[in-house]
Amino acid sequence: GRVAVMFGGESAERDVSLNSGKAVLNALQRQGVDAFAFDPATRPITELLTEKTDRVVIMLHGRGGEDGTLQGALELLKIPYTGSGVLGSALCMDKIHSKQIWQCLNLPTAKYQIADKSYFEAGSCSVIMQQLGNEVMVKPAREGSSIGMARVSSAVQLEKAIQDAFQYDNQVLLEQYIDGAEFTVSILQGRALPSIRMSTPHTFYDYSAKYQDNTTQYFCPSGLDAEKEAELAMLSSRAFRALSARGWGRIDVMQNKLGEFYLLEANTVPGMTEKSLVPKAAKQAGLDFDGLCLAILASSMP
Ligand code: DAL
Ligand code: MG
Repeated sequence: GRVAVMFGGESAERDVSLNSGKAVLNALQRQGVDAFAFDPATRPITELLTEKTDRVVIMLHGRGGEDGTLQGALELLKIPYTGSGVLGSALCMDKIHSKQIWQCLNLPTAKYQIADKSYFEAGSCSVIMQQLGNEVMVKPAREGSSIGMARVSSAVQLEKAIQDAFQYDNQVLLEQYIDGAEFTVSILQGRALPSIRMSTPHTFYDYSAKYQDNTTQYFCPSGLDAEKEAELAMLSSRAFRALSARGWGRIDVMQNKLGEFYLLEANTVPGMTEKSLVPKAAKQAGLDFDGLCLAILASSMP
């Protein structure tokens, strides 16, 4: 049957999605899949029906593609799609709700506060800084690729960063900064792939460190010993399942100087560009890019 690879879209991560989608479309076509490009920014998704679409590969990042809304529409159109369903997508898109669920299940995640645009008072910033340990990550609740994020170390910086983040979302996560190393664990068919460690000279792993300059170092294998690697794999798959995520995805984790892991967030449509993390982990596990794309396509089968 015909496979629509959906990419582009209208979120702030459109450019990343264009790269992910093109790479995946090319791979599927190389493998003989009857796949075509579908950008929901340029046409209504009901045209999936006139295109006689049997399955959808979702390569849209961010809101309107990764957040459960598209998944709900595809449910109503009765077209199977890759990855997580409505609930899992919506939960993983929202960093605040993700952390609340992990907290309830005693899965480790850094201390946080919430800034809500309707109630926010700038005067609370110095108290928040003290409560969170004087080094804070500011994150729009539902964004990706580090868009709208900042790392701050004073109340003045915090207030400015919150105001900036409010341009992206009405809810903003204020999270204790974990000083240490950043890891990511890719999940495929419900199983953890080898972890990757990222090292950046930037103050954090921001948009340019991810996509624009070549200063980020990637380590896969990550350098953890076998016991720690197993602990991280177990933690990541539990974190993934706790949010009802399905099929494939990626869990981002910090490790502090004591070696303890802290869950950052879950991605249900992680980047699939040539520079991206999931393809690196799959390669380390012996699966090339085309094979990975076929495995993701297979996640759309009931
Ligand atoms: N949000 C980007 C695409 C990622 O997680 O890779
Ligand atoms: Mg993300």
